[in-house]
Amino acid sequence: MTAEVIFGSELAKSLRDEMKEEVTGLREKNIVPGLTVVLIGDDPASRSYVKGKQKASDYVGVDSDLIELPTDTTQEQLLNLIDELNHKDTVHGILVQLPLPAHIDEQVIIEAISPEKDVDGFHPISIGRMMTGKDTFFPCTPYGIIQMMKSKDISLEGKHAVIIGRSNIVGKPVGQLLLSENATVTYCHSRTKDMEAYIAQADILIVAVGKAHFINGDHIKDGAIVIDVGVNRVEDGSLTGDVDFDSAKEKASYITPVPKGVGPMTITMLMHNTIKSAKKANG
Ligand code: GUN
Repeated sequence: MTAEVIFGSELAKSLRDEMKEEVTGLREKNIVPGLTVVLIGDDPASRSYVKGKQKASDYVGVDSDLIELPTDTTQEQLLNLIDELNHKDTVHGILVQLPLPAHIDEQVIIEAISPEKDVDGFHPISIGRMMTGKDTFFPCTPYGIIQMMKSKDISLEGKHAVIIGRSNIVGKPVGQLLLSENATVTYCHSRTKDMEAYIAQADILIVAVGKAHFINGDHIKDGAIVIDVGVNRVEDGSLTGDVDFDSAKEKASYITPVPKGVGPMTITMLMHNTIKSAKKANG
């Protein structure tokens, strides 16, 4: 079997075009979705992600503001800034780019963001609402993954989804969203014994471990749907995923590439969440 490639970049483009139209309509009613991104320090990968967020905001018509702070910013200074943004009516979404410098407690910062402006969907209230099937902001990468599968009319019900990686940003929440779609979910991680046996059973395989070519075609079941969340920079400077695309493509039914796969969808769902927040704030 040769897989159909799900290009997140193409889906992202069409969704952003729809959003652009929607935002034009909102702006006519004086509703201007506003996103503030806070970047601390000078990590090149974070800087590049933030750039992508600014570009998408400009495209869809979201007013975006980037606040850049030095690495030695204190936790208290950051908390004061978040408090200010929580009270600012023109700000509908607050995103503090992770990871933060080691002297700042990430969880304290996440919990300081008002759940009404938590467009990352990382606040425990957002996570709790997601787990109990309530309306909330879903974390952007997991939400984008679900949208990619839905765009191909892939039925998730009853499928065995195996997730490799248990991060708070991707692995754990994507499992919850798949469960909400009536999939059966297995989480694998660095301490899982005989991981290959689980991988071989996966109807849907989601790989988010951050190791180049951790999975190859020999591991996966014929006809599996393979979602590659990895973004790894290899020696020649190019980006590659956690899955060996060429060999996996020969066995999968659907597969996402890196780049042009999950990445563009993450940013697109951030736009979705920001627009949703602006609409909610304006009744
Ligand atoms: N760092 C890597 N991915 C993300 C994300 O989705 N949100 C934030 N805030 N930081 C990140």
